[in-house]
Amino acid sequence: MEPVLDWEARYQESSVPWERTGLNPAFVAWQSWLRDHQGGTVVVPGCGRSPELQAFADMGFNVIGVDLSPSAAQFQETVLAAKGLDGKLVVSNLFDWSPDTPVDFVYEQTCLCALKPDHWRAYENLLTRWLRPGGTLLALFMQTGESGGPPFHCGKAAMEQLFSEQRWIWDETSVRSEHPLGVHELGFRLTLR
Ligand SMILES: C[S@@+](CC[C@H](N)C(=O)[O-])C[C@H]1O[C@@H](n2cnc3c(N)ncnc32)[C@H](O)[C@@H]1O
Repeated sequence: MEPVLDWEARYQESSVPWERTGLNPAFVAWQSWLRDHQGGTVVVPGCGRSPELQAFADMGFNVIGVDLSPSAAQFQETVLAAKGLDGKLVVSNLFDWSPDTPVDFVYEQTCLCALKPDHWRAYENLLTRWLRPGGTLLALFMQTGESGGPPFHCGKAAMEQLFSEQRWIWDETSVRSEHPLGVHELGFRLTLR
């Protein structure tokens, strides 16, 4: 599955308008819930240089970041090491990778919206294999209200179809995060049946 952009080039050129200066507000809102689930393993697909990977590690999670950009992975490794935190970075197309054993959490932040919508079903299938039954997908669905992308609009109705109730239990409490691109994300916790 070919990426839609040369993401490595975007990092090399510092053309990264999706990056925040701090933690995603949804991550902050979920932190007390996360504190009750410390110690599990979390995969962050398309982690880029985002600070949530380090924040998970800081909270005691085993973290695995997956990204096809070598410089983003290197950035994460450098920051983790500087903070004395453990974590594994995998430089790979996420469609070519799987964890050794199913994990407890996946943190989805601006990865789905960076994939071609034609690849979304394959991505959802992949997540059902990455997660253990009862594992949680912390998902931030990008709301652009526009056609085209990236970022591609991840409307709620389309997400409900993609992450169907047959496979996922939706926690209906949503969290809204404003995004530096002038759009916003809707955060949901979804449990794999
Ligand atoms: C919009 S950026 C978001 C980065 C990060 N999640 C953040 O919030 O800052 C999308 C990221 O997904 C990565 N990516 C895109 N397609 C990918 C794929 N097929 N496999 C692995 N990583 C991918 C890119 O390299 C980039 O780091």
